Amino acid sequence: MLITSSDPGSRSAGNGSAPIAAVIVLAAGAGTRMRSTKPKVLHELAGKPMLWHALQSAAGLAPEQLVAVLGHGRDQVGDFLTTSDDLPSVATAVQDQQLGTGHACACALAVTGNLTGTVLVTYGDVPLLQTATLTALADEHAARGNAVTVLTALVADPTGYGRIIRGDAGELIGIVEQKDADIDQRAIREINSGVYAFDGAVLTDALGRLSDANAAGERYLTDVVGIARDDGRRVGSIQATDAVETEGINDRVQLAELARVLNARLVRKAQLGGVTVHDPATTWIHADVTIGPDTEILPGTQLQAGTTIGSGCSIGPDTTLISCTVADGASVVRSHCHGASIGPSATVGPFTYLRPDTVLHEGSKAGAFVEIKKSTVGPGSKVPHLSYVGDTTIGVGANIGAGTITANYDGDHKFATVIGDHAFIGSDSTLVAPVTIADGAYVAAGSTITEDLGPGALGIARGRQHSAPGWVLRRRIGSKSAASAQAALAAAEVSLPATASPATTASTQGDRPA
Ligand code: UD1
Ligand code: CA
Repeated sequence: MLITSSDPGSRSAGNGSAPIAAVIVLAAGAGTRMRSTKPKVLHELAGKPMLWHALQSAAGLAPEQLVAVLGHGRDQVGDFLTTSDDLPSVATAVQDQQLGTGHACACALAVTGNLTGTVLVTYGDVPLLQTATLTALADEHAARGNAVTVLTALVADPTGYGRIIRGDAGELIGIVEQKDADIDQRAIREINSGVYAFDGAVLTDALGRLSDANAAGERYLTDVVGIARDDGRRVGSIQATDAVETEGINDRVQLAELARVLNARLVRKAQLGGVTVHDPATTWIHADVTIGPDTEILPGTQLQAGTTIGSGCSIGPDTTLISCTVADGASVVRSHCHGASIGPSATVGPFTYLRPDTVLHEGSKAGAFVEIKKSTVGPGSKVPHLSYVGDTTIGVGANIGAGTITANYDGDHKFATVIGDHAFIGSDSTLVAPVTIADGAYVAAGSTITEDLGPGALGIARGRQHSAPGWVLRRRIGSKSAASAQAALAAAEVSLPATASPATTASTQGDRPA
């Protein structure tokens, strides 16, 4: 994001990025407008809680200390912080009662101890703020030798925000809250984003001097600006050109709006990394997803948390991948996959459901209306149509016919099925687990297999066919079927005995698998 310095006066040259003593992330507020039993900052965008995004951006500055101030829902938020394995290390401060943003910072300082050097304050409910913006804020702060530097934004509707008050020369004088502002001040469209850089010593001193004699009866962090200025210290600001970065989330409407903005960012990042995204508006990419170059993403695709996609893949349309690994050259069409590993050049879909611990090896296939759970499909093996495969290990080059079911559950326990290399399972077979079909074995179509088959064996387990020639002519007299049959027989010059006979003639059934 571009940042413009909005204060008169000169910057001292060549400060570079100064070290940051601490970043304080305020997250104690109630978030009542979310109308949720879940603490506001745990609501997700791009598959991660808003607090995660805020902490990532803060951690990008490599501060000596990172501290989150928790209050409402602090048990749940604390659990999230301690159990997430992809978070920077964060200290927590507790603010029991929400007595204002200034009070919240004082709670943080009680944890960090006395801070010298630069201290940044951000919010846990402002998820789009980027590290680059915080760096620009810290750099401006250092370059000008400020005691306080405020990140401001120009917005169309400033209602609810603190307004930036400037003097005749454009210099920052202070911040007035909506509740305390007069009619002229309320017309100001430059707002306080709530993100600041402070000199640690100045902040510590000023926090001790805050009053709650204001419309909200709170200790305002914003008052630190006026206090520092009255003490003769330099205060300044920078203005964000992309105000959306400074937007906070208070309700689920804003949650969805910012989620879309964040998604657009993630789609764009993928595109610039060599991924073709046909329809950015219907493509959703979570924050931790990686996608290799020359992969194509078709419309209606959701790539959710924990998903990694290689290069040269084709994903979608209308596909959801959750915690999946997709290797180079694989394709997934119109499918729902969760916790699956899809090997190189493997093909999935259309209409396939892959469940956790499914591993498709190189060149294998899970086709239309196939569900696979906790199973391995070996290299080149195919499950092309209408099958359920669960708790199964399939070897190399096996073919699983249409409608094959592994009956893995007896209502009490789950059992395993093993299908060997180059085995052939005829259509509409049921393999009742535990059962092993050894390498090179065949199962005849329509079989219910309950006993193991050795290498190269054929298993047939189905009722024999009985045929009764002419039955329709005798028992469905006058029907269209009878007429059709009669015509076919006449054309073939076959005549059947005219007398009705209930006897049927069994046809011979050869040793054919299908
Ligand atoms: C605050 C600023 C206002 C600014 C706005 C930007 C003050 C006095 N006002 O408004 O100038 O335009 O942010 O969004 O600072 N929080 C705590 N403990 C508290 C109070 C708040 O942790 O006691 C946290 C909230 O969880 C939230 C953030 O601080 O993340 C801001 O609180 P909120 O009540 O939304 O902001 P305001 O005080 O209205
Ligand atoms: Ca807010």
